[in-house]
Amino acid sequence: MAFTASDRYAVFGHPIGHSRSPLIHSQFAEQTGQNILYFAQDVDLPQFEHEARTFFLSGGMGLNCTLPLKEAAFRFADTCSARAERARAVNTLVLQPDGTLFGDNTDGAGLLRDLTANLGLKLAGKRMLILGAGGASRGIIAPLLEAALERLVIANRTESRALLLADEFATLGNVSGSGFEALGNAQYDVIVNATAASLKGELPPLPDDLLAPGGCCYDLAYARTPTAFVRWGNAHGAAVSADGIGMLVEQAAEAFLLWRGVRPETAPVIRMLQPD
Ligand code: ATR
Repeated sequence: MAFTASDRYAVFGHPIGHSRSPLIHSQFAEQTGQNILYFAQDVDLPQFEHEARTFFLSGGMGLNCTLPLKEAAFRFADTCSARAERARAVNTLVLQPDGTLFGDNTDGAGLLRDLTANLGLKLAGKRMLILGAGGASRGIIAPLLEAALERLVIANRTESRALLLADEFATLGNVSGSGFEALGNAQYDVIVNATAASLKGELPPLPDDLLAPGGCCYDLAYARTPTAFVRWGNAHGAAVSADGIGMLVEQAAEAFLLWRGVRPETAPVIRMLQPD
């Protein structure tokens, strides 16, 4: 019997126990006939550099980094894509033929693809609101501004963080920052939740008429049952209220493309991960 060694890939993060990435990448590999091994490893910030070095020295070819490692992965990479530079965060490391590590960030592209290709939204000319001004928001702002929105508002519990983040991206489009209290009577066509609150079943304080009629709610978080924000959208008349499973699969497909040079089909994998 002949054995061929699989190319090794992994996702590092903490916690990592519930990661769906190994399943997603094994589906992609099967679908495209690629011989890869992809595993999840619990790695927290203090061990990151050591574990990443060990992984690549022992034959690893590509690494996904999730919370809380994306900023550390950005610093660890030898070179980075422009979109990773803007996000100052890396979720995908690629071993180059010369032995250096290239860092990219596929989160924003994954979100954009889920919103437009999968959910059928047209973003040009739309008013969009992002809730939260942490790392998750930082990673998606530039790609969203490229979609020719009419306006992008970042609202955050700590208003100063929202103002700083908006300032940083001001050259790319019409973006401003706000506290939740200052949201007032404005309405938005698309509201994206990028706070860490939803995972704890909490919601920021949102005015009841924040979502424009026929609007869309999108939670970057996902869970087996609808998240607090997905439920908020459904209760406030959203035409679409989706969690981040589609984005997770799309960012993984972008990473797979970087590593293997082939783009897998995402629709069957998204269907497989959706609860019955
Ligand atoms: P991440 O990198 O995942 O975005 P982060 O940098 O800790 O994590 O940011 C978490 C975001 O969720 C922040 O915008 C935070 O608001 P603050 O900047 O005011 O801390 C937001 N957040 C966390 N818990 C929240 C809650 N219960 N209600 C509203 N916003 C919350």
